[in-house]
Amino acid sequence: MEIITERLLLREITWNDLEDIHRLHSIPEVDEFNTLGIPENLDETRELIRPEIESKKADPQNSYTWRIILKNTGDFIGLAGMTLFRDKFRLGEMYYKLLPAFWGKGYATEVTKNLIVVGFDKFGLHKVEAGVATENERSIHVLEKAGMIREGLRRKILPIRGEWKDNYHYAIVEDDPRDY
Ligand SMILES: CC(C)(COP(=O)(O)OP(=O)(O)OC[C@H]1O[C@@H](n2cnc3c(N)ncnc32)[C@H](O)[C@@H]1OP(=O)(O)O)[C@@H](O)C(=O)NCCC(=O)NCCS
Repeated sequence: MEIITERLLLREITWNDLEDIHRLHSIPEVDEFNTLGIPENLDETRELIRPEIESKKADPQNSYTWRIILKNTGDFIGLAGMTLFRDKFRLGEMYYKLLPAFWGKGYATEVTKNLIVVGFDKFGLHKVEAGVATENERSIHVLEKAGMIREGLRRKILPIRGEWKDNYHYAIVEDDPRDY
């Protein structure tokens, strides 16, 4: 499944993306507020993405990982994903991460808004959620620009480099106001 936005193309990952994903996950700034940790080698990244690539075979498919590509250059700039809970709760959980060279250009906001629209219009969701470390101000700003609402704080839930960090829970409901 492909998503086309104003400046970006989101295509589901394949094994051809392994090295780009490894490069993204190996950057300390990208991992700063993430529980993943820096991979030790390419094999670790290969095992990490294996279930994501295999999830494409499921019917219905409930987990999507897209590589984010700049339309005008074809550059790989990051990853986005969504997990669907298609039962009566109709919930989706999304995330994104970009190479630092492409931060501050509104790309994450563009991805978030488009994933929310896809979540409601294509996947038939009632609610789209996202979690974010309370110190990740850049990402908090992205979620709020997309109209997500802070619903709560989960204390000391994120294991990050040997410490337990707090996480904000953000969400948007299908009939919440949106300016897009
Ligand atoms: C979070 C991330 C995706 C943001 O990407 P991005 O493309 O720079 O986001 P955008 O450009 O769409 O928006 C960033 C906004 O935060 C603002 N911002 C930048 N630094 C900030 C800071 N230190 N504090 C508050 N806001 C900040 C920017 O000004 C911009 O807002 P504006 O458009 O109103 O000016 C990127 O930093 C990233 O990949 N981080 C590492 C992975 C990660 O943390 N993922 C999210 C997990 S929840």
